[in-house]
Amino acid sequence: MCFDFVFQNILIILTARMFYDLTKILRSQVEVIRLKRLVEMKNLKDGMTIAADIYTSSDRVPLVPKGSVVTADMIETLKLNEIHRVTIEIKEGSGYNEPLPIVQPYLNEQLREAAISSIRNMFAAIKESVLSEEGMSTAFQAVKEIDPIVEELVDSLTADTRPYIHILDLKSYDEYTYHHSLSVSVLSIAIGQGLGFNEEKLRFLGRCAMLHDIGKILIPNEIINKPSRLTVQEYEIIKSHTIRGYDYLKRGNIGDESLRLSVMCHHEKVDGSGYLLGLKGDKVPFMSQIVSAADIYDAITSYRSYRTPISPAVAIETVMGQSNVAFSYDIVKALIEKLELYPINSRVELSDGRRGLVVDNTSSMRPIVRIVNTTEIVDLMSPKSLSLVITRILSEEEE
Ligand SMILES: [Fe+2]
Repeated sequence: MCFDFVFQNILIILTARMFYDLTKILRSQVEVIRLKRLVEMKNLKDGMTIAADIYTSSDRVPLVPKGSVVTADMIETLKLNEIHRVTIEIKEGSGYNEPLPIVQPYLNEQLREAAISSIRNMFAAIKESVLSEEGMSTAFQAVKEIDPIVEELVDSLTADTRPYIHILDLKSYDEYTYHHSLSVSVLSIAIGQGLGFNEEKLRFLGRCAMLHDIGKILIPNEIINKPSRLTVQEYEIIKSHTIRGYDYLKRGNIGDESLRLSVMCHHEKVDGSGYLLGLKGDKVPFMSQIVSAADIYDAITSYRSYRTPISPAVAIETVMGQSNVAFSYDIVKALIEKLELYPINSRVELSDGRRGLVVDNTSSMRPIVRIVNTTEIVDLMSPKSLSLVITRILSEEEE
């Protein structure tokens, strides 16, 4: 009995020790993976260590192998070969483990936080506003406070000289509703830029995108979040978010009539199959068409609790499929031109399960990929590779 007791305790201690060691090993592996950083060329400095082989599209051996120490000559060579970003190691005590700026995000963190906070505030105020007249005026004020944010967004996006939106900047956030409003605004403004809009038009478009779904806040959560199939009546209620948004803005005297109509028409389709009025062709406000394209693209590429995101190329195919059905082809063209779907050095998974690194994205939807741990180059535009597709972009932690 006594022996059993001692034996059991030794077993518990040994198991705990093993668990502790295993946790330590796992944690150290996670730390090793995290001690890498993707940096833009301007942040690459002498003495840093390259953490992943760097290839150009034409080379089968790396231009710069993993483990190389950065020199001034190397930086020149990388620039000559149009390498824009590289992954470096961050070793403890190397002097480079201070937080380095990663690839400059499309929106700076301060602006993103200010925007999310204003959107959150606006959503909450609208939700509460149905309870009292006083709440109503607070909410109208909160809606108006979105305007300076939209202005800042437009200023920031027009000041950015980069030709593309790095779409990963817009992903991976928990608060889907708020981030969706922001992403739809950024994408809409980017499409507007691609179409040559002036700042005034971009601001109008940004406001329209920010406010397009506010009518949904007035619909009971049980219907909006219902996991099972909606009844016909429930679907009609959901569809009414378009007119509810219009009415709400009108009641608060927010925006002019064309802004309110653009908000109301974001589910109309140019082929006449949309709702609420079934408008056709040019009768669907152009701004509503842009918001609709951005809305669809963001919804299908976002992480939602019930499914994993679709790859950018599949999302683009889906949006392209809506050309001249839901919105004008010009809008899709501007969206494709503005998105950098697979940035150089991004890690992707192919439909045959192999993983690789994008080494050339001249063909934005069908880039050239080098298969990891090999020198094999797969040109997704070449006839023999046309059956392959990129199924997803891997996160930084995935190898
Ligand atoms: Fe909507």
